[in-house]
Amino acid sequence: MDKTVHVTATARGLFAGRVVPQMSKFIIEGGRTLRGEVSVSGAKNAVLPIMAASVMADSPCVLHNVPDLTDTKIMAEILKGLGVRVDRIGPDGSSLYIDPRTLNRHVVDELLMRQVRSSVFLMGPLLGKVGKVQVSYPGGCDIGQRPIDLHIKGLKSLGATFTEEHGQIIAERDRWEGVDIHLDIPSVGATENIMMGAALAKGVTVIRNAAKEPEIVDLQGFLNSMGARIRGAGTDVIRVEGVTNLYGCEYTIMPDRIEVGTFMVAAVITSGAIWIENALPEHVQAVTAKLREVGAEITEKDRGLYVKGTGRPKPTDVKTLPYPGFPTDMQPQMMALLSIAEGTSVITETIFDSRFKQAEELGRMGAKIRTEGRTAIIKGVPRLSGAMVEATDLRSGASLVLAGLSADGVTTVNGIHNLDRGYERLEAKLASLGASIKRVLGDEPVHARLRVTGMN
Ligand code: UD1
Repeated sequence: MDKTVHVTATARGLFAGRVVPQMSKFIIEGGRTLRGEVSVSGAKNAVLPIMAASVMADSPCVLHNVPDLTDTKIMAEILKGLGVRVDRIGPDGSSLYIDPRTLNRHVVDELLMRQVRSSVFLMGPLLGKVGKVQVSYPGGCDIGQRPIDLHIKGLKSLGATFTEEHGQIIAERDRWEGVDIHLDIPSVGATENIMMGAALAKGVTVIRNAAKEPEIVDLQGFLNSMGARIRGAGTDVIRVEGVTNLYGCEYTIMPDRIEVGTFMVAAVITSGAIWIENALPEHVQAVTAKLREVGAEITEKDRGLYVKGTGRPKPTDVKTLPYPGFPTDMQPQMMALLSIAEGTSVITETIFDSRFKQAEELGRMGAKIRTEGRTAIIKGVPRLSGAMVEATDLRSGASLVLAGLSADGVTTVNGIHNLDRGYERLEAKLASLGASIKRVLGDEPVHARLRVTGMN
């Protein structure tokens, strides 16, 4: 299903050696009940900082359960651009061999940087390892303001000096010493960047008001496997005792909790029944609670979840919050579900502004959604109807696919390159559950604008 093209220098100089997502769309015939078993892939939001952190090792790392996504491909290209060797290995290619011994650059490729926001994760590791880094501001933003001031503030307090030239952020360190940092907001990315940088600092760093997301616990697990001394991830105080060097290790990436949540909603929205293999129920408790409220039957097992839809969902109110609250990355999918609820629901988005892009597209399918700032009021309708819609970012794309699965008639979802950033083999997995979904190359002309939003 690899629809990503590695364009050669002779083919198109501008994109030489770069990962260029191909335009494609999904054609979904809705109304099928999804049943069966599906296995979730490794977590995108865990593997990206972990790939960045691997440059700090003195010897090669092997990562297992690495999802094959546009974002992981781009991150691999970024690492290669820094001189690091990166190869897909293993019988099914789901492992990544990363050899950072040949790391010889500290300037992150600007075009790639614009394609994947997570390239900012190189700041902490490169400052820690080689003492300098040059990045550009991460690319366009479709889910509201996403500054990186807290990343910079944290790394400055460890001892880095930042300057800005022609849109490039250039940072260098002289001292690199542990410090007490209190984050203004529990930012996931800032927590991770500071943890990585502090792993190689002298002395102890304490990060207070840290984000508590499971991906941060996974990053701690990886860093500690490399010889770091970190504890507290998963709580709001993280303590990093700096070490002088880190070594290569073997590590398995946690399952993707947002992919789990997306399949949970797929079961409920199609009144189906899905066993989600490799899911960690404790990571999706907020989603489970909401889906139970709307009437779903959910059974939790050690490494899996059984989710059964029981007809039209009941309405409910949802407020996105930092973990363990309801994840903002599941908000668009929940909106699709609530658009067919038996009554009116309210969604409040507290993490990002402009994260209701899917509302207008769902409206094309007959949903009755009114948005006011960070609030969306959703008046449930009995059924959605197929239409041509556009995925403007990763999770809004997921929301439209879910809506298309439950709608009457045919839905065309354009802008699938946004979904390829974060869902591995999505159409194959959905088809194996009985969905009628196929990928067709080429966007509809009216939508044929390349938008890689670089978001979440
Ligand atoms: C990560 C996730 C993303 C998820 C988000 C919130 C990755 C790769 N992405 O994004 O999928 O939606 O967490 O769960 O892990 N903020 C600042 N200054 C900063 C940093 C953040 O003001 O320096 C603000 C943001 O604008 C936002 C809030 O803090 O309003 C939370 O952002 P943050 O937790 O940093 O999200 P990301 O790490 O970007």
